[in-house]
Amino acid sequence: MESITTSSYAVHFNEAGYKALNTQLKEFNYSRIFILVDENTHKHCLPLFLSQLEELRDYEIIEIESGEENKNINTCTGVWEALSELDGDRKSLLINLGGGVITDLGGFVASAFKRGIHFINVPTSLLAMVDASVGGKTGVDLGMLKNQIGVINQPQMVLIAPAFLRTLETRQLQSGFAEMLKHGLIKSEKYWKNLKQLNSFESLDAPIFDSVVIKNEVVLKDPTEQHLRKILNFGHTLGHAIETHFLTSDNKETLLHGEAIAIGMILEAYLSSQLTGLDKEHLKDIKSTFLERYRKVSFSDSDIDAIISLLKYDKKNTHGNINFVLLKAIGETEIDCQVPNEFYARAFAYYKE
Ligand code: GLY
Repeated sequence: MESITTSSYAVHFNEAGYKALNTQLKEFNYSRIFILVDENTHKHCLPLFLSQLEELRDYEIIEIESGEENKNINTCTGVWEALSELDGDRKSLLINLGGGVITDLGGFVASAFKRGIHFINVPTSLLAMVDASVGGKTGVDLGMLKNQIGVINQPQMVLIAPAFLRTLETRQLQSGFAEMLKHGLIKSEKYWKNLKQLNSFESLDAPIFDSVVIKNEVVLKDPTEQHLRKILNFGHTLGHAIETHFLTSDNKETLLHGEAIAIGMILEAYLSSQLTGLDKEHLKDIKSTFLERYRKVSFSDSDIDAIISLLKYDKKNTHGNINFVLLKAIGETEIDCQVPNEFYARAFAYYKE
């Protein structure tokens, strides 16, 4: 697979990626190299990664605990302390080997350590391959509020090796797949249709490539999310609020990010049908596609109230307005849409019916 060039770095795949990383290590002559992992990627991904890198001789491993609940500033402090104790300097490199928590948190840690050191993302989950590792969004959660603290700062390169996906359970793959379906909904009906027909996760190289191309096209036009990049948040306004609500409620199981935004996409597709002209057939198609793949979740009235009150923390909000990305059609979006309050309950009722 050819590499994808972004504004300042490249996304490389498989062997070409390892080759590019070897070249980067040789050319930059980093004073210290750190690899950030969690306990899962340490065990399941690091051996494969190291076996491909003949230029990587001297490195330190920094391990954090896996899970969204550890994506916070305390974990960053632990990593900054480790970097400092292990003599990290401004010519150090941080390689983030893991899923979205590792690439988001590691990117933020690198961006702030000594006012910024180089970092490279090596995503090991489908979600991180098609979304988190590309586009330069870095950061952590604030309490249970998602991604409230962070900066946009681009990595030196991204290396995507779908072989890492073999270590993942289907539920994790489905979670990442939701972001790929989103890419179809916001940018390409043809891609949406192709993905709907995919009934195995055996060979994802080509769709991963297509998703990164779509994401990169958007980010190139609007790297700092002033306008177009907002479309990547389709399904995320309600989806993030649902994810946070499930994380913070003692009596609820945790929803993976993709599971929450799959629900968010059904709800926001309903809002699109009411407010921006998405036709009923497409709405039905979106609902049935997601419900075939993602378990239906039940929401009580008090869940819905709690979720709606979390919307005020959404990062796209301005001047007290909650700004939604809605669909005009599959592959066509409208940004900065305001939703009258009475539509939220109707959207949940449509999800339930
Ligand atoms: N995950 C959405 C974005 O990168 O803009």
